[in-house]
Amino acid sequence: MPDHFNPVLIIGGGLAGLSLALRLAERGVGVTVLSKSELDEGSTRYAQGGIAAALGAGDSFGAHIDDTLEAGGGLCKRRTVEFVVRKAPRAVQWLIERGVSFSRHGDAGNAGDGEFHLTREGGHSHRRVLHAADATGEEVEVTLEQMVRRHDAITLLENHIAIDLITSKKQGAGGGGRINTCLGVYALDLNRKITVALPCRHLALATGGASKIYLYTSNPDTSTGDGIAMAWRAGCRVANMEFVQFHPTCLYHPQAKSFLISEAVRGEGGKLVHADGRRFMPAYDRRAELAPRDIVARAIDLEMKINGCDNVYLDISHQPAAFIRRHFPTISARCLQLGLDMTAEPLPVVPAAHYTCGGVVTDLDGRTDIHNLYAIGETGYTGLHGANRLASNSLLECLVFAESCAARIAAELQRGGRADAMPALANWDESQVTDPDERIVVSHNWDELRRCMWDYVGIVRTDKRLTRAARRIALLQEEIREFYSHFRISNDLVELRNLVQVAELTVRCAMRRKESRGLHITRDYPQTAADAKETVLTPE
Ligand code: FAD
Ligand code: SIN
Repeated sequence: MPDHFNPVLIIGGGLAGLSLALRLAERGVGVTVLSKSELDEGSTRYAQGGIAAALGAGDSFGAHIDDTLEAGGGLCKRRTVEFVVRKAPRAVQWLIERGVSFSRHGDAGNAGDGEFHLTREGGHSHRRVLHAADATGEEVEVTLEQMVRRHDAITLLENHIAIDLITSKKQGAGGGGRINTCLGVYALDLNRKITVALPCRHLALATGGASKIYLYTSNPDTSTGDGIAMAWRAGCRVANMEFVQFHPTCLYHPQAKSFLISEAVRGEGGKLVHADGRRFMPAYDRRAELAPRDIVARAIDLEMKINGCDNVYLDISHQPAAFIRRHFPTISARCLQLGLDMTAEPLPVVPAAHYTCGGVVTDLDGRTDIHNLYAIGETGYTGLHGANRLASNSLLECLVFAESCAARIAAELQRGGRADAMPALANWDESQVTDPDERIVVSHNWDELRRCMWDYVGIVRTDKRLTRAARRIALLQEEIREFYSHFRISNDLVELRNLVQVAELTVRCAMRRKESRGLHITRDYPQTAADAKETVLTPE
C-alpha cells in the first residue's frame, strides 16, 4: 500500500493540476499530485504568449466572447465561453496574488505607467494577453510549483506514470453499485520500477494534450494523451478530436527540436514572408498575420506546397533591436544560440501540431461521465475552443476549470463526510507477463504512428488519406495490444498504448465530419455545413 491517503488524487503537474491542488489545499483538502517526470515538465512550462483576459481600455467581455466564438468556427458552446471569459480577470488576479509577475509598461527601463502590458495575438480584436515577457509558462509554473512543494496538505509523487483508472465497473460487483465510480489509479513508479494501486475518493485528470501523436510538434514529450486514453478506456465519452491545432510558427532548424516562435511576435509587428521577402498573408485574410491560427497555418501550408519550399520566414527585424530583445528575451537568446539573429534577419518557420481542442467530455465543474472522475486543462473538452482555439485561451481554461472543479470536489467531500471510506483496490497483476524480448517493436511503432499521423491526418485531409491512416493505426493497435498483454510495462509502452488510442479517436472523429470547419479541412467536403455539430464518441 503506498504511503498516501489523501482523498483527492490529481494526475498532472501543469497549470491545471497545480492550480487545482492549491485551490483544494487552500480549502484544507489533502491532495496527492502525480507527474510522470519532474513536476514542472509539461506544456505549461513552455507557454510563451500569455493568458487572455479582457482588462485593457476599450476591451470588454463581449469582445473577448465574440473573438473566441469567431475563432471557434461556430462550434464553441456559448455558455462555456461566457463562463470562462467572465471569470478571466479573477483567475489572473488569483495568480498575481500568489506571486506571478506579469510584464508591465515601464519594465526593463522602458518608459511607462506601470500598468500591465497587454500583447496581441491572432484572432484578438484588442490587446488582451497578459504575459511575462515571452516566458509566461515558466513564470506561472515555477511560482505555483514552489507553493505546492511547500504546502503541508499536498503530497507529490513525481516520476510516477498513471497507467489505467480503477473503476467500480472494472473491479466488479461490490465496488460502488450500478454507478460507475472512479476508485483510484494504477501507476508505475519509475524510480522503484514497481506498479502501485493508488486509491482516492476523487480523481482529476490534468495530463495535458496529445500533440505527440504527430511527428512534428511544439509540445514536450509529456503530451501523449494519457488522460484522454485512460478516460476512454474507463468508459468516458470523448469529443471533437479531429480539431488538432497546428501552430503556424515553429522554428525550422535541425537542432531546435520543438521550439516555438510565439504568436506575440506577429502581434508586435512580425510579418510572414518567402525567402525573397514576398509577404503572402494579406491575400488570405484581411487580418493578415493576425488572422486566427487555423487560417495562418493553412496559408503557410499552401504557400509551401505551391512554392515547393520547406519553410517560410517570420520577419520582425524592422522593429528596433532593443524592442525585440525586451519583448522576446527567451526567443531571441535561443535563436542566437542556433546562429539566428532575429533583430537582423527573418526566422525560418513551419507549422507543427500544438494543441488538442477535443478531449474528455466534461461539464462546467470538470465532471466526466464517471462518478468522482474529473478532467481539466487540455485533457478536457468543455466546448470553449470549438473548431479552433483562440490564442492564449488555454492557460485561462486551466485556471477557470481548476477553480470550479475545486469548489465541486470540496463540496462533495463535505457532503460525504467521513462516510465515504477509501476504496480497497485489487493489486496490479503481473503474473502473466515477462520481460520484453524485442524493445524495437515499441520504438518502431512510436515512429511509424507519428509519421502516419503527420502524412495522412495533417492540416489538409482527404477521405483516402484518413482511410489509409485508419488501416495502419488498426494494425499498430493490434500489435501494441499484444505486446502490452505479454510483457512487463515500461514508460514508453504505456505512452505508446495511449498515443495509438488517441490517434485512433482522432481519425475516427475526422472521418465522421463530412464538412470543412476550423481546423478540420478536407478536400472531399470543402463546404461548411449550415448547422455546427460536435463529434461525440461513446465507448461501447
Ligand atoms: P500540461 O502543462 O501539459 O501538464 C500535464 C502534466 O501531466 C505534466 O505534469 C505531465 O507530466 C503529467 N502527465 C501526463 N500524463 C501523465 C501520466 N500518465 N501520469 C502522470 N502524469 C502525467 N496556451 C496559452 O494559453 N498561452 C500560451 O502562451 C501558450 N503557449 C504555448 C507554448 C507552447 C510551446 C506550448 C507547447 C503550448 C502553449 N500553450 C499556450 C498551450 C498551453 O501551454 C497548454 O494547453 C497548457 O499549459 C496545458 O496545461 P495542462 O495543465 O492541461 O497540461
Ligand atoms: C504562442 O505564444 O504563440 C502560443 C500561444 C497559445 O498557444 O495560446
